Amino acid sequence: MRRVSLIDIFTHPIAQKYLTRSGVSHAITVAQYAVQLANKYDVNPDLAAKAGLLHDIGHYEWYTDGEWDYDAYVKNDIHAIKGAERAHKLLIRLGEDRKYAKEIALAILLHTDSYLPENSMKKNTLQQIVRQADEMDEEPFGKHHYRKMKYEDAFKQIERLDYTIEQNMSEYRQSV
Ligand SMILES: [Fe+2]
Repeated sequence: MRRVSLIDIFTHPIAQKYLTRSGVSHAITVAQYAVQLANKYDVNPDLAAKAGLLHDIGHYEWYTDGEWDYDAYVKNDIHAIKGAERAHKLLIRLGEDRKYAKEIALAILLHTDSYLPENSMKKNTLQQIVRQADEMDEEPFGKHHYRKMKYEDAFKQIERLDYTIEQNMSEYRQSV
């Protein structure tokens, strides 16, 4: 049994605030891809889903005249650092296992290396998965952050993903 479900995370006001900022649709799609990849590479699907869902919650609003200022974002962005910290705080508050909270936070911290020297770090499989899932849903000029999604639709998809993870977790536990 997982201590914290995706619905617990998704419905928390902190997650709502930051997920709506960087795009609920993108967050959910990345969580879904991360679960698929976790099953493929024998990684804990629960950690992959949580890191996927929360990977962009560190985004600042890079808006100029109502438009995403992509140049300012590329130059000044530290969303992975802020996101790792926010996600960790939220997960601990919800009662997540500390070891898991750390693993999820590290996967968020390393899901982009825009602020790291290239190829300067060896990443574990969970960290690679979250990055790959993010890239699978990326659109040019950050358009994936703008896709609209109704709250009810997002809620249903998250619920379905929680169910999938519960199923996958028993297979994962048997394989490790
Ligand atoms: Fe992303």
